[in-house]
Amino acid sequence: MSQTFLLPEFEIEESEKPVNVASVPQRSPFRYPGGKTWLVPLFRRWIMSLPSKPEVLVEPFAGGGIISLTAGFEQLTNRVVMVELDEQIAAVWKTILGGDAEWLAKRILAFDLTVESAKAEFEKTARSQRELAFQTILKNRTAHGGILAEGAGVLKNGENGKGILSRWYPQTIAKRITNIGYVAHHFEFKHGDAFEELTRYRNKRNAVFFIDPPYTAGGKRAGSRLYKHCEVDHERLFSVCEKLCGDFLITYDHAEEVSALAKRHGFETKPVAMKNTHHAEMKELLIGKDLGWAEEGGVFRETPVEYHVRETKERRSKGKSKLV
Ligand SMILES: C[S@@+](CC[C@H](N)C(=O)[O-])C[C@H]1O[C@@H](n2cnc3c(N)ncnc32)[C@H](O)[C@@H]1O
Repeated sequence: MSQTFLLPEFEIEESEKPVNVASVPQRSPFRYPGGKTWLVPLFRRWIMSLPSKPEVLVEPFAGGGIISLTAGFEQLTNRVVMVELDEQIAAVWKTILGGDAEWLAKRILAFDLTVESAKAEFEKTARSQRELAFQTILKNRTAHGGILAEGAGVLKNGENGKGILSRWYPQTIAKRITNIGYVAHHFEFKHGDAFEELTRYRNKRNAVFFIDPPYTAGGKRAGSRLYKHCEVDHERLFSVCEKLCGDFLITYDHAEEVSALAKRHGFETKPVAMKNTHHAEMKELLIGKDLGWAEEGGVFRETPVEYHVRETKERRSKGKSKLV
């Protein structure tokens, strides 16, 4: 299947078995823990299986927002509503979608990253939303695992031994931000609570929902280390989903408690195998009203290495690397 995208660089050929995430454009400026890039082929399959094109996608736990971005760029729905409670992440989305994408892209390109310059930046109190957005992207790209929750250390030796620059690709990040700015009119961002927005769209038949909460059900703590806001009333979330008129897709970790919760609410579940960046195979759980569309299996992979860091003689002597 071939899809036409708003920007020519995003034109891709999809094979019959859309399994490897290498075929999925990386669109988010974030490096997001629990990011759902690996799910994009399945998300497309779900939307294509619906009887008609939905008017709006609501993503109430948006985070790095790759699923929302996919829906917006590929026009899988006419509109996209993203919701996020975290103030820092919200500042990034508000800046990019609210008219300051170009400013943020330029700020990133102009920043000369060293351990010292990063520390100096983090000591400043952001005086505007867009300054907070810049600090957040910088933190996300220089903290271990991209974790923004308190206590995550700044990379010193870096991942792959490449120092603080190992995840800082200014040109790429700036380009992603500029591109999102071009299609911002498809998006609405709400800094607020997932439950409020779910309730707001509850009766809309032509709305669909992609729901990816922090994974803390059944006593799992992964979500609590990764996100500042990690307390979710999972029972309440499932009750709210039961009342949604539109279709929805929920993702969770594959835990017995979650399967039991889904069953109690009359939802279908389907485990999906995915390989994380460390090549470990893990299972996540898809939950929905009718998962017939997800029957074909496959292992979905996260993209292992996005970019290479090439050192030039001149920059090596200054202790910097060229990012390609
Ligand atoms: C598993 S992550 C989402 C990751 C996202 N799907 C991606 O691909 O990047 C869950 C997100 O929900 C946010 N969150 C937690 N509680 C929330 C709430 N009550 N309302 C809105 N967002 C919330 C967290 O800050 C976190 O960013």
